[in-house]
Amino acid sequence: MKEYTQYPLLAHNTFGMDVRAARFVEYESEDELRRFLLSPEARTARLLHIGGGSNLLFTADFEGIVLHSAIRGWEVVAQDDDEVLLRVGAGVVWDDLVAYTVEQGWYGAENLSLIPGEVGASAVQNIGAYGVEAKDLIVQVEAVSRTTGERRVFPVEECRYAYRQSVFKQELKGEYFVTQVTYRFRKRPCWRLEYGNIRAELAKDGGALTLQRLREVIVHIRREKLPDPAVTGNAGSFFMNPIVPQSRFEELLREYPDLPHYPAGEGTVKLSAGWLIDRCGWKGRSLGPAGVHSRQALVLVNLGGATGADILRLSAAVQSAVRERFGIDLHPEVIFL
Ligand code: EPU
Repeated sequence: MKEYTQYPLLAHNTFGMDVRAARFVEYESEDELRRFLLSPEARTARLLHIGGGSNLLFTADFEGIVLHSAIRGWEVVAQDDDEVLLRVGAGVVWDDLVAYTVEQGWYGAENLSLIPGEVGASAVQNIGAYGVEAKDLIVQVEAVSRTTGERRVFPVEECRYAYRQSVFKQELKGEYFVTQVTYRFRKRPCWRLEYGNIRAELAKDGGALTLQRLREVIVHIRREKLPDPAVTGNAGSFFMNPIVPQSRFEELLREYPDLPHYPAGEGTVKLSAGWLIDRCGWKGRSLGPAGVHSRQALVLVNLGGATGADILRLSAAVQSAVRERFGIDLHPEVIFL
């Protein structure tokens, strides 16, 4: 286990906030995590478990203990001619896993290429892009209880997955820390090409459809739209896409026939927050050092030296613009600390 005090978090948050954690603890095994959680220090402290820090906005130093998993590696736990079950450590970088599955010729994760963050967060956050969500691949999640230190295995049904939601963010928030995730990958093609301009991009050079090509196309689309956190601080989509009742959607559609929308389950429709913000004229605008990205309005960026408060001010301005024009409340996907 590695432990630090007054630890700089700059390299642990993609927004590029220069803040510190009073304590930082990185564990390498489930046992280390359990021993730490049962220690007197952990019992009373405020704990924050982070992954790649790609979904966090620090507004101040963190006066508690930041925990990080260094449980890495993966193992095949079962396979047959059709599929393979891979058990993966929570501290594995998500895109390293995707790259590996593509190399192996295993299908399922390719549309989730280049999503920042780690495997543990994929299961907490139910990351998703281009028509696929982590829940489509997850078989089970292993986690350790903060209170008892005991391991619990959550079959996917018990994770209560929904759009960017899980039991770990809701009913059991703060109570379980993910240690391993088991995913199912297919050995035969199961392409998901309907979303956005995937097909158009694939058609551009006319080559055969392969896993590697689809990964390249997804990486290309993301790089075109989303700012590279190594260059411009950001946390990907800042808000969740709002889910509205069917009736509200129909009203809006009459006024805005080009309103992008996606099915979201019985009687509801998911709208595009980026489109709503764009339509309010906020795309590419800024408030001081906090900006709305010029190629994807759903992404707020640190234009250089922004504080958490600067980003919050911009976020509030964007929310009130969307509320005023469309009567819709945008909820942040990013977690404020
Ligand atoms: N749009 C605009 N203007 C904008 C942004 C978007 O008009 O500034 C329109 C697009 O033209 C398109 C629609 O809105 O018709 C949707 O845009 P996009 O495909 O870029 O996806 P999104 O709904 O804005 C979601 C995820 C992304 C994910 C993409 C692709 C959320 C909160 N975000 O964004 O996830 O990569 O779909 O599947 O669900 C993330 O969570 O950090 C993230 C980047």
